[in-house]
Amino acid sequence: GGYRHRRARPGLARQMERMIVSMQDPDMGIKMRNQRLLITVIPHAMTGNDVVEWLIQKYGISEEEALHLGNLLVKHGYIYPLKDPRSLVLRADESPYRFQTPYFWTSTKWPATELDYAIYLAKKNIRKQGDLIEHEKDNYNLLHKRINHTWDFVVMQAREQLRAAKQRRKGDRIVIDCQEQAYWLVNRPPPGAPNVLEQGPERRNGHTSRIEYCRKAMARTRVKSSICLEGYLKFNEQYVPHDPIMSGCLPSNPWITDDTTYWAMNTATQVHLHVRRNFSL
Ligand SMILES: *[C@@H]1O[C@H](CO)[C@@H](O)[C@H](O)[C@H]1NC(C)=O
Repeated sequence: GGYRHRRARPGLARQMERMIVSMQDPDMGIKMRNQRLLITVIPHAMTGNDVVEWLIQKYGISEEEALHLGNLLVKHGYIYPLKDPRSLVLRADESPYRFQTPYFWTSTKWPATELDYAIYLAKKNIRKQGDLIEHEKDNYNLLHKRINHTWDFVVMQAREQLRAAKQRRKGDRIVIDCQEQAYWLVNRPPPGAPNVLEQGPERRNGHTSRIEYCRKAMARTRVKSSICLEGYLKFNEQYVPHDPIMSGCLPSNPWITDDTTYWAMNTATQVHLHVRRNFSL
């Protein structure tokens, strides 16, 4: 089943996120390169080997420990595979991986909503012409019943997102598909897969009318938050190249050195980016 709030243990999540941020440091982090996926070039990617090597160097640990740590990062969705994206494991070889966008980090304030999951499944359902994996098909049917009153919206959103995806370059499309899939594998793990996120209070027991009331109340606000999140995602994608943490910057990275020239030069944009990342290095 899967309609509970799930959140990684905050302490562990914060630790992993700090690790992920230093992995992306323009100077000391993993060197990002174009990686080939069959005939498609994926920019800003790394190999499983790169991750393991970096962890060994950075923490002075054995290869086995590094692989274990790297796997933890992949299982929690901070790093996702581009090859075999259904399998959240770190392979210590040339398999390509990317860093998950902070929007999809498990510590993100908002929990994964039914509505967003429904849109994701509806997209898959359209693309695969109804040929969903068994448990996804079950979830799709269940959601269709539960949020039937907003189903037109779900399908409309799914179509709209697919239309937008068609206009992207193939490499970007693959990246977005893989990162979204990794997010849902973590937040709605398939039956039998270990659930890495802690489970919140069970919501199924209790008075039926109360459940019904909550369900209706949630469906109302979720429509709005989903639209808002969609906008937020677009904002993130658009600004990644200008984001010093993600892409590095000149004359000097103010998150790493004491030189704040960069902030002075970019006050307007930086206020926004800074608010978005309320963590420190
Ligand atoms: C959704 O609601 C419509 C009309 O109320 C109904 O005909 C349909 O069977 C419902 N679908 C599901 C999957 O519950």
